[in-house]
Amino acid sequence: DWTTGNVIEEQVAAIREQVGDKRAICGLSGGVDSAVAAALVQKAIGSQLTCVYVDHGLMRKGETEQVEKDFVAATGVQLKVVDAEERFLKALAGVSDPEEKRKIIGREFIRVFEQAQLEILQEEGPEVAFLVQGTLYPDIVESGGGTGTANIKSHHNVGGLPDDIEFELVEPLRQLFKDEVRMVGQELGLPEEIVQRQPFPGPGLGIRIVGEVNKERLDLLREADAIAREELTAAGLDRDIWQCPVVLLADVRSVGVQGDGRTYGHPIVLRPVSSEDAMTADWSRLPYDVLARISTRITNEVRDVNRVVLDVTSKPPGTIEWE
Ligand code: XMP
Repeated sequence: DWTTGNVIEEQVAAIREQVGDKRAICGLSGGVDSAVAAALVQKAIGSQLTCVYVDHGLMRKGETEQVEKDFVAATGVQLKVVDAEERFLKALAGVSDPEEKRKIIGREFIRVFEQAQLEILQEEGPEVAFLVQGTLYPDIVESGGGTGTANIKSHHNVGGLPDDIEFELVEPLRQLFKDEVRMVGQELGLPEEIVQRQPFPGPGLGIRIVGEVNKERLDLLREADAIAREELTAAGLDRDIWQCPVVLLADVRSVGVQGDGRTYGHPIVLRPVSSEDAMTADWSRLPYDVLARISTRITNEVRDVNRVVLDVTSKPPGTIEWE
């Protein structure tokens, strides 16, 4: 019968069988799926696994540290962190168009990740033959089944490597739904903040700044987002809402008054939604006192923000994210 203990035992045996004495690489995104997949593979093959975390500089406050410190402490995993913030910000400079931003972030991410894979190959040798992915059962159903291999091309001038390297995929979550993945993660002793994390888009805060992305704006949004998350958690609302994007309208300014002076600052949008699967969503009817606390704190504590507004649009017609 189905218990998390049985799932872990079965998967550990299957991973050992598949990987043998070879080595594996796993990319960590900060999300639940890749974290649980990595923890399972770590349990199965220990130091034969190397994890890679690309820090694109678009994460929320504390999230990179969560991976670098808490995840490593909980699993003992061998982690390679690539600090690529500067590279991403440079590539995003001057870009406001949402699709353009997504394309740039996706492209840079693949390049940086492949570069890291090649470096690991160079350091650890040709036994590196497996790539771990946190594919879930619904992902497989949606994409029409199938598993297989992933190719990387050594177009990065590293030298001394074959032109085209093929990894075999390890997908230990293929039979699981999201709630089951969380249970397995909990059983494996992963930090609560990772296991219970709400959905967060791959392009990160890059698509929550309406307008150009730069370090100053990211820092500002990180502060506002951290306050909103803190207050929602303190109010015990994390399980009631699906997620709550916090968006900076970087190209909009409005007039305000603070202390004895006029201000001309940016609005922050709160976008709390309820949903079953993100395909449709409704705006969450959050308690007014919680909204009031978030608004007061953001306008008091975040420089250059003088207004907090609430998004009361369902999906459709609005999407959950603003970009
Ligand atoms: P939308 O904005 O389309 O979002 O209503 C639906 C869900 O998907 C998340 N989302 C993404 N997740 N990469 C991701 O991994 C992305 O590019 C991306 N865009 C949106 C969003 O946070 C919501 O949960």
